[in-house]
Amino acid sequence: MRNVSLTNIFQLPFARKYLKRAGLAHAVTVAQKAYDLACQEGVNTDLATKAALLHDIGHYTWYRDGEWDFDLYKQNDIHAIKGAERAHKMLIRLGENPEAAKEIAVAILFHTDSYFQGTVERTSLQEVVAMADEADEEPNGNHHYKVISEAEAEEMLAELDALIETQHSKSHLQQSV
Ligand SMILES: [Fe+2]
Repeated sequence: MRNVSLTNIFQLPFARKYLKRAGLAHAVTVAQKAYDLACQEGVNTDLATKAALLHDIGHYTWYRDGEWDFDLYKQNDIHAIKGAERAHKMLIRLGENPEAAKEIAVAILFHTDSYFQGTVERTSLQEVVAMADEADEEPNGNHHYKVISEAEAEEMLAELDALIETQHSKSHLQQSV
């Protein structure tokens, strides 16, 4: 049994607000992709899907004269730093294991290489989260504007939770044999 599920995270108003701001459809799709990649790569699916769901919650927009200014964004963006901090705070508040909360927060921090530009070698968990994000990216940041309802998101997260629970209980059973 996990301490915190994706559904628990989505029930938190603080989480829902930021997930919607950065694009709920993108967050849920990246969590689904992270689940598949984590299974392929032998990475912990619980950590990978939480980091993927929350990877963009530090996002905000950079406007100049009412228009998105991508140059300004690239120059000044720290969304991964803000996101890592917010995710850590909400996970601890929900009762997450502190070691897991730290791993998830660091995976969020490293999901973009805009600060370290290839100078850091990512762990497989961090790599899975970054690859899942890249797999859903569209030109001009359009992936942030895809729309799903909160009810659809809830359903998709509940399905992912069920898959992760089944997988974790199977591995616990194998360990205890
Ligand atoms: Fe993203």
